[in-house]
Amino acid sequence: FARPLILAIESSCDETAASIIDGNGTILSDVVASQIDFHARFGGVVPEIASRKHIEAICGVCDECLDAASRSLGAPQLHWRDLDAIAVTYAPGLVGALVVGVAFAKGAAWGADKPLIAVNHLEGHLYANRIARSDIKPPMVVSLVSGGHTMLVHVRDWGDYETLGSTIDDAVGEAFDKVAKALGLGYPGGPIISKLAAQGNPKAIDFPRALMHSGDLRFSLSGLKTAVTTYIQKEQQAGREPNMPDIAASFTAAVVDVQVAKAKTALLETGAKEFCLGGGVAANPELRAAYERMCKKIGVRLTMPPLSACGDQAAMIAEVARDRFAQGKFADLSLDVQAHAPL
Ligand code: KG4
Ligand code: ZN
Repeated sequence: FARPLILAIESSCDETAASIIDGNGTILSDVVASQIDFHARFGGVVPEIASRKHIEAICGVCDECLDAASRSLGAPQLHWRDLDAIAVTYAPGLVGALVVGVAFAKGAAWGADKPLIAVNHLEGHLYANRIARSDIKPPMVVSLVSGGHTMLVHVRDWGDYETLGSTIDDAVGEAFDKVAKALGLGYPGGPIISKLAAQGNPKAIDFPRALMHSGDLRFSLSGLKTAVTTYIQKEQQAGREPNMPDIAASFTAAVVDVQVAKAKTALLETGAKEFCLGGGVAANPELRAAYERMCKKIGVRLTMPPLSACGDQAAMIAEVARDRFAQGKFADLSLDVQAHAPL
């Protein structure tokens, strides 16, 4: 392997994750402990529970990360002292969740006398595409769609970002989760709605495509959720059983149409020839298929990280840290978390 060997920690939401990357960008280990089962019964991520679960998991996740990296190198057991730096997500996210990762990373860096690297979680999602395709080169447009974010980013260069547009209310994943909750389907909503939508007719119900023709790259999703619940109420009042697959498929179509239209505008406006995805919603099969058609039509190369790399993990944080290490950009032990931070 090549130096530097960097261990990255991610704890901004409901995944406790650690990953070790080497100087060539080879991911030696990528460990994710999901807390989803603990949050599901509450219909969403409960911040207090997230913090506590991170505390319980973080030692084991880092141990497993060191073990797995040793195994993939076929080398004797790796220890903290064998690393060259420790990286951590410091923003944006749930404050109490971020604090666990940052405090742990600081302690590890201090204890092993290694430099500390601070990484912005959103930048991590951008870099997940560089892991998926190592020859990817800016300029590119990235669609970041998760439970907390909905944005189109123009990556002019690594480290040089312009947010072209974002949501003015709910995030896309949040809309999937809220609609699933309204339909009584459970949490997280995305995968459940995807499954239902596969059996439904996307043209059955004409749900609103908010801001589709607004001429800018802002998104709005709260009205769509209301439209779905209103539709169900009307059907029930009329004595009809709402057709869940049709609702799921038509809701998805409304989301996808707007996402694709705005992404296309962003690509044409910036002239970028690379389009990339990030965030849990990027796992949506209809969205992926629609992006494939659109990119083919306008001659843009599409990079879609594998589903596991779309959601939260620490490999993407490690990939950012590799650049920071090369640039000599380190944090000190006064590093603090931030709930909100721009790219
Ligand atoms: O990136 P992520 O794992 O966590 C953060 O929110 O940061 O994204 C989770 C979100 C949830 O809202 C979930 O419902 C959504 O991604 N999601 C999906 C799908 N799989 C997960 N949304 C639509 N279709 C899917 N197949
Ligand atoms: Zn994320």
